[in-house]
Amino acid sequence: MDKPPTHNEVVVASFRPRTRRCNWNFKYLSLLCLWGVYLAASRTVFVHDDSTALPAHAQEALHQCKMLNVKPGPPDDFFLRSQSDRFVEGTSPTLLRNASVWTGDSAGYELRDVDILLDKGIIKFVGQAHQGVLHGYSSLITVDVGGKWVTPGIVDMHSHLGVDSAPSLAGASDTNSLKGPILPWLRSLDGLNTHDDAYLLSISGGVTTANVLPGSANAIGGQAFVIKLRPTAERSPSSMLLEPPYTINNTQVDPTLRPRWRQMKHACGENPSRVYGNTRLDTLWAFRQAYDEARNFKEKQDDYCAKVFTGRWDGLGDFPQDLRLEALVDVLRGRVKVHTHCYEAVDLDDFVRLTNEFQFPLAAFHHAHEAYLVPDTLKRAYGNTPAIAMFATNARYKREAYRASEFAPRILAENGIDVVMKSDHPVLNSRYLMYEAQQAHYYGLSVDLALSSVTSVPAKVLGLDHRIGFIREGYDADLVIWDSHPLAIGATPTQVWIDGISQLQNPHVSAKPLDFQTAPSTPSFDEEAAAAVKYEGLPPLSTTSPTTNAVVFTNVGSVFSKIGTEVQQVFSASSAGLGVAIVKAGELICYGAHTTCLEHNTSNDVEWSDLDGGSICPALISYGSPLGLEEIHDEKSTRDGAVLDPLADRIPRVLSGNKVIRAVDGLLFATRDALLAYRAGVTSAVTAPASKGLVAGLSTVFSTGAAHGLQGGAVVQDVAALHVSIGRRWSGSPSVSTQIAALRNLLLHSNEGTPFDQAAKGEIPLVVETANVDIIVSLLKLKAQVDAYTGSNISLVVSGAAEAHVLSKELAAAGVGVIVSPSRPFPEDWQSRRILPGPPLTNDSIISTLLDHGVTVGIGILEPWSARSTRFDIAWAALESDSKISKTEALALASTNLEKLLGVPVQGDLVVTRGGTILDFESKVVGVISQSRGLFEWI
Ligand SMILES: *[C@@H]1O[C@H](CO)[C@@H](O)[C@H](O)[C@H]1NC(C)=O
Ligand SMILES: *[C@@H]1O[C@H](CO)[C@@H](O)[C@H](O)[C@H]1NC(C)=O
Ligand SMILES: *[C@@H]1O[C@H](CO)[C@@H](O)[C@H](O)[C@H]1NC(C)=O
Ligand SMILES: *[C@@H]1O[C@H](CO)[C@@H](O)[C@H](O)[C@H]1NC(C)=O
Ligand SMILES: *[C@@H]1O[C@H](CO)[C@@H](O)[C@H](O)[C@H]1NC(C)=O
Repeated sequence: MDKPPTHNEVVVASFRPRTRRCNWNFKYLSLLCLWGVYLAASRTVFVHDDSTALPAHAQEALHQCKMLNVKPGPPDDFFLRSQSDRFVEGTSPTLLRNASVWTGDSAGYELRDVDILLDKGIIKFVGQAHQGVLHGYSSLITVDVGGKWVTPGIVDMHSHLGVDSAPSLAGASDTNSLKGPILPWLRSLDGLNTHDDAYLLSISGGVTTANVLPGSANAIGGQAFVIKLRPTAERSPSSMLLEPPYTINNTQVDPTLRPRWRQMKHACGENPSRVYGNTRLDTLWAFRQAYDEARNFKEKQDDYCAKVFTGRWDGLGDFPQDLRLEALVDVLRGRVKVHTHCYEAVDLDDFVRLTNEFQFPLAAFHHAHEAYLVPDTLKRAYGNTPAIAMFATNARYKREAYRASEFAPRILAENGIDVVMKSDHPVLNSRYLMYEAQQAHYYGLSVDLALSSVTSVPAKVLGLDHRIGFIREGYDADLVIWDSHPLAIGATPTQVWIDGISQLQNPHVSAKPLDFQTAPSTPSFDEEAAAAVKYEGLPPLSTTSPTTNAVVFTNVGSVFSKIGTEVQQVFSASSAGLGVAIVKAGELICYGAHTTCLEHNTSNDVEWSDLDGGSICPALISYGSPLGLEEIHDEKSTRDGAVLDPLADRIPRVLSGNKVIRAVDGLLFATRDALLAYRAGVTSAVTAPASKGLVAGLSTVFSTGAAHGLQGGAVVQDVAALHVSIGRRWSGSPSVSTQIAALRNLLLHSNEGTPFDQAAKGEIPLVVETANVDIIVSLLKLKAQVDAYTGSNISLVVSGAAEAHVLSKELAAAGVGVIVSPSRPFPEDWQSRRILPGPPLTNDSIISTLLDHGVTVGIGILEPWSARSTRFDIAWAALESDSKISKTEALALASTNLEKLLGVPVQGDLVVTRGGTILDFESKVVGVISQSRGLFEWI
């Protein structure tokens, strides 16, 4: 804490500075010059003895001026600390034995068979812990890591944890102020909700530190604060802070303290434009105006200090202070880590120009979906090249995200630019931030850069790499033991320490395959990455080389096939040696050991392909998002749009008699998300019309690879199921009880042959979108009532279903199916707050629990960009089930089970992968065997 200076301490007479070499053009007064003057002045102060009294505020002014341009950083003696400032008295020292450590340190990333000693909130020792090291420790908690991987705690550089809270409630919504585009004086800390359900969930994914940023509604949204996620005894937001700036309590700070880094959020592009009805032109002017004001004020301060340092006290009032401007002035002094949400080349270029005009460094561009296209622009930023903080595959939700590439992390790294993977929590659930790094690795980022991207690099960018982001002696005791290599799919912490305190009580561990202890050896995407740049983010995605000829696949590791309505493994290399499979005219005509297929090996028109242990399996189906109904979510002209709702909207008479809308009538083909899904083995999708109300309409089944709707096989099935949605909505919508009453009415009293009549009779499935247990109970009662009345059996499916595990038994008894969507639930709102989080917090996951009880389960997604990752979602479900879900059951979650639930006939498409099965990070999809079109298509 700063003590107020006593005003009569400093006494000096003729204040004659000895340095006059500096250029007194204050606008360009350099930091060094200022320091030189200060030191000279100080010497003068203490040397001269012919004294007269200075003005009362002289010392305070000197202190202010002395500190003005000192760059932030840890105090010189920081590394001598024997205890963390966050140490909690009573925390037992802990010894981790026999760890494989990924250190974060480029001097040597990996250490094997080492011990880590944690004490006083810091890492005391890394190495072979001999007697000397352990001397004096009597009550040591010892953890045998058994050779498993230990990494530094994850640092999430872009989070809204605590300000955009889970469960989301109107009373806890503090992400964005809407009071104007320029709000540098606001602080995320002031809205930090200590009761957010996500703290523990994110810790269970290995996140230990988060930079809590204001939202991106404003050009300058305010100051961000770095927190550690663990609970504190004090239970206050302040006690969660990691090295908060000293200015947090008072702008006047103890002059002996070197300042700490501050963090600030900026944003350009679509968000500020949308919120304020602006254009990019307006937003940039808002920036320039704000920075010009800050610069003028800074010059006032610098002028003042020049006078102080040269003893020109005459008429000199107080040091100029302005709470509205001080944070931006600090940006201009290079003492703030500026985090700028900026996507497109135009935005990145604008902002780089701004940094040069006002001469302030930028810590990172966030999102920055086009950064990989303009590395030279990034390098022209003032002072240093900013880091780029990204999503792995979340893209195309708005125009400025349209040219995003999954290869951006590796391309930026190849250009020598720092790569950070971030969650933007709750946009992505930060519990799975390591999954972002895993995907970046899958698409080509090296192991060490992928792991650095969520640990040491964000620590460095935040100015906190003197204490977090690494496993090094003297660093904060924040670390994670993983059940598998952290870049293996499904990697899950088995324990997490923050400040030396273990965070998971009785963690549940799902056994992982032995080979998951090494980083996956991922396929090459060199050509795809080059194409992404060549085509400025829009490489052609349509496939061009279908063949009806025979293709012989060698080195086949496994074959999965649909037998009836089940997925079964029909060939496994382990039992028969690497095998052969032969495809002709869209049929898998032979598979198995070499000798099995010899009789087919006669034709000359044969293509050969080595699958390198790869696999053939049923193609996957996507369900749950508007895939096929939109290209860019935020652009109306690229989407089908939302249907009118019978409960909320006036339905025009022209629609009378035809109130249930068919998605097939609004299909858009060859969207990038659909084509990417196709290339990832998701060859069809079931999509319902988009609705904000009760009745969505009739879903359709279409081919994600088709060029247009009249191509053979483009529409697999005009109508699949009838979709409604029941929920407690924010405002204006009728009550849940009203929605249920309306549904009852529609089921009991619709005209013969209309969709609701068909659903009531069980002729088409009725899919109800809801998360909530109580609503599911009402639906089960409604089903019983309607079934009793009609004597039929509604084929009811609950989708979304975050809380469905609570009713596993009842759902199974009623024959009601469930589509878990998203497949790893998050307590996004009150209606979905009772999730079953799965390991390490619970033994069972929602999917394994429902399956255990005999419920038919499928998985779904919320947004079209994630359709391509369906293969990893089902892999995840299997891997966290402690072997309760087999590979075939995992494949069924996104194929046969969805067919059963959604009234889709068994489809015959097969997918060919090289290097592993479709569930593996080692593999790549290389082709689709299309039974319906009678051909094989290389991808
Ligand atoms: C460390 O763990 C590995 C894997 O369990 C084991 O093979 C090795 O023997 C262990 N080393 C020591 C020193 O216990
Ligand atoms: C700010 O004041 C609080 C007490 O209100 C104190 O606990 C905290 O350490 C102070 N923070 C800084 C950075 O000085
Ligand atoms: C097919 O025949 C070629 C040459 O006759 C042979 O090298 C190859 O191993 C055979 N392939 C299979 C699948 O039997
Ligand atoms: C209704 O259909 C489901 C699914 O086919 C079945 O499990 C359930 O037993 C049926 N219920 C009745 C009452 O027939
Ligand atoms: C979790 O699973 C493990 C291994 O199957 C078992 O030993 C343990 O008792 C289970 N815990 C609970 C709470 O069910």
